[in-house]
Amino acid sequence: MLKNKQIILGVSGGIAAYKSVELLRLLTKAGADVHVIMTRSAQEFVTPLTFQALSSNAVHTELFNLLSEQKIGHISLADRADLFIVAPATANVIGKIAGGIADDMLTTTIMATKAPVLFAPAMNVNMYKNQIYQENEQKLRRYGYLFEAPVSGSLACGWEGEGKLASPEAIFESALAALTKKDLTGRKILITAGPTREEIDPVRYISNHSSGKMGYALARCARMRGAQVILVSGPTSLMKPAGVTLVEVTSAMDMQREVMAQVAECDVIIKAAAVADYRPSKRSSSKIKKDVDCTAIELVKNPDILATLGNMDRRPFLVGFAAETNSLKKNASKKLAEKNLDMIVANDVSQIDAGFNVDNNRAMIFFKDGRNVECPLMPKKRLADVILGYIAVELLEG
Ligand code: PMT
Repeated sequence: MLKNKQIILGVSGGIAAYKSVELLRLLTKAGADVHVIMTRSAQEFVTPLTFQALSSNAVHTELFNLLSEQKIGHISLADRADLFIVAPATANVIGKIAGGIADDMLTTTIMATKAPVLFAPAMNVNMYKNQIYQENEQKLRRYGYLFEAPVSGSLACGWEGEGKLASPEAIFESALAALTKKDLTGRKILITAGPTREEIDPVRYISNHSSGKMGYALARCARMRGAQVILVSGPTSLMKPAGVTLVEVTSAMDMQREVMAQVAECDVIIKAAAVADYRPSKRSSSKIKKDVDCTAIELVKNPDILATLGNMDRRPFLVGFAAETNSLKKNASKKLAEKNLDMIVANDVSQIDAGFNVDNNRAMIFFKDGRNVECPLMPKKRLADVILGYIAVELLEG
């Protein structure tokens, strides 16, 4: 993901400095070449040796160190960066940059870089809320600096509230987003994901094996590419992707209501959810007793949300999925035509290495004009990127 990317990780002095060790691990695991700069106070919390061992690069601590300036100076570091992350970023470092002060290795290199800079602030809640800090942050945001906002929780200083460093995973996601081509900026994309549950009684339901992984990968990737993303999701155990609006639903009827409420505002709708085609005609309000040997549940058909969207006079760019177990090409092409779609992603869900509830997928993408593209087995995150790449091109040309 981050192969051939040069990232500078600035660590300033706060108790959360230990969490940037985990962030460094995520970055190097994704293939980035990471160079760490530590302020003097950061070294009171974590030793440079820890970052050096994990980055396989010398850690920079002093501006006036003759040896390290000769080997790789602060200007060279600033120039080589694809991205600069400061985590944790103290009120002091943010204040200095907002005031144009460059008086140590970290602030000097930030001032000299032309790379995007992502600050992940961490501090006491009252410092965070302080008008001076807030004005500094707003000023930097206006100049294009990026921020991964701190979260609420119990702080090391004993206070409760905002100021806790965002998780290493959230900072990593924002770093990926900062490095991704923004070909979907200004587009609003609604993605459905996961299964629906059709309740029989308070303890039982009809559902399917969808984990939501495909739809969540699409949501995450669309956000990275700059889109405003609404993720309408059936019940899953997945974490909400950062920077995405999550609307949680249970049944097909709930999903239809939420999708139809948003459709007028959307440029694109991608329906990766596995919507139950049928629901029980009646939901029992109490648990059905097992005192009969055999019983039958009457089912009624759920509305086809995608077909409803396809029938609209003015509709967004529509991408369906087709979950097939046989005659993939024939069935997918039929759904593309019958539901009046722009694209359909067909996957064979009878295979154990792809489709439902696994990390990988293989698919064929069919377009309205008869073209098709074969996508071999790959991680769902990668397939999401391929699908969104085609959508971005179609939107540009359309
Ligand atoms: O969630 P994962 O575990 O990652 O698995 C991914 C997946 C296999 C669920 C996904 O890749 C996939 O194939 N999703 C579509 C599943 C499905 O319902 O396919 P279908 O062929 O039955 O439906 C065709 C299309 O119509 C789909 O876009 C579906 O969302 C939509 N539909 C179906 C029925 C219905 N009542 N309303 C709909 O909108």
